[in-house]
Amino acid sequence: MAARGRRTRAAPNEIPKERPRFRDHAPEDFPFPDLNPHLKAHLTFGPPVLTATQAAAYYGRWSEAYGREAPLVVEIGAGNGFFLTATAAQHPEWNLLGVEIRYKRIMMIAKKLVAAKADNARICRYDAWYTDDLFTDGSVHGLWVNHPDPWPKDRHEKNRLLTRTFLEEAVRILAPGGFLHVKSDTRYNVDRVATFIDRDLDGNALPPLPLEIVGRSDDVTTGDAPWPDDIETNYQKKFRLKGEPVYAIAVRRR
Ligand SMILES: C[S@@+](CC[C@H](N)C(=O)[O-])C[C@H]1O[C@@H](n2cnc3c(N)ncnc32)[C@H](O)[C@@H]1O
Repeated sequence: MAARGRRTRAAPNEIPKERPRFRDHAPEDFPFPDLNPHLKAHLTFGPPVLTATQAAAYYGRWSEAYGREAPLVVEIGAGNGFFLTATAAQHPEWNLLGVEIRYKRIMMIAKKLVAAKADNARICRYDAWYTDDLFTDGSVHGLWVNHPDPWPKDRHEKNRLLTRTFLEEAVRILAPGGFLHVKSDTRYNVDRVATFIDRDLDGNALPPLPLEIVGRSDDVTTGDAPWPDDIETNYQKKFRLKGEPVYAIAVRRR
């Protein structure tokens, strides 16, 4: 998400000359792919799975991954794929892309998408910190972040996805009028989104980002989501069954 120079990109079916970063390696570089059967499986599964190299090659041309022009909506940290699969059915007018880091989950998601015949959805193995490898300015219609990893301790701050830098990146990739929707089992995560629009965590003013809060909820599990027809995620279900609230915030790119 940090500002970095862009690279020359190869066509999606070519190996890019410069491979996408993934903690400075392409995942395909992993020296012993037999050690992780899910890693191996994701390399050969084909659509809807996109390896990191394939995903980065769609930079600036995502419509080619779907064979049609449609608004691109991205889910960060797609988990086991319930949300992505159901959203693909709820919104056939969108091209949906899940971004997930764990191979086993990639394969779970892929199988769900295939079973549901969700032709408008893809799942890519990528690190969500590097969305600048994937998306050109203003090319994303919507962004979902559902239950990002909590990192509850203060010393975990550097690991938390929802930062000012993340919001700046959302502003860069979202088209005007595009949305950022966040759900979390901690109020803290939702508050961070609201805060970082124009402040740091100490309350100091920052240059306001062109984002407006259009809705918030202190518990979407009661049917009070700030968007219509909320789809329950796997983690959301766990918290609902425990009787615990799930917080949400809906933000619009001006
Ligand atoms: C707490 S789980 C939530 C899963 C799902 N969104 C849900 O609500 O049920 C967080 C998910 O984010 C994924 N994740 C964590 N860090 C990531 C990263 N840097 N890039 C992509 N995915 C990531 C994890 O592998 C996991 O699937």
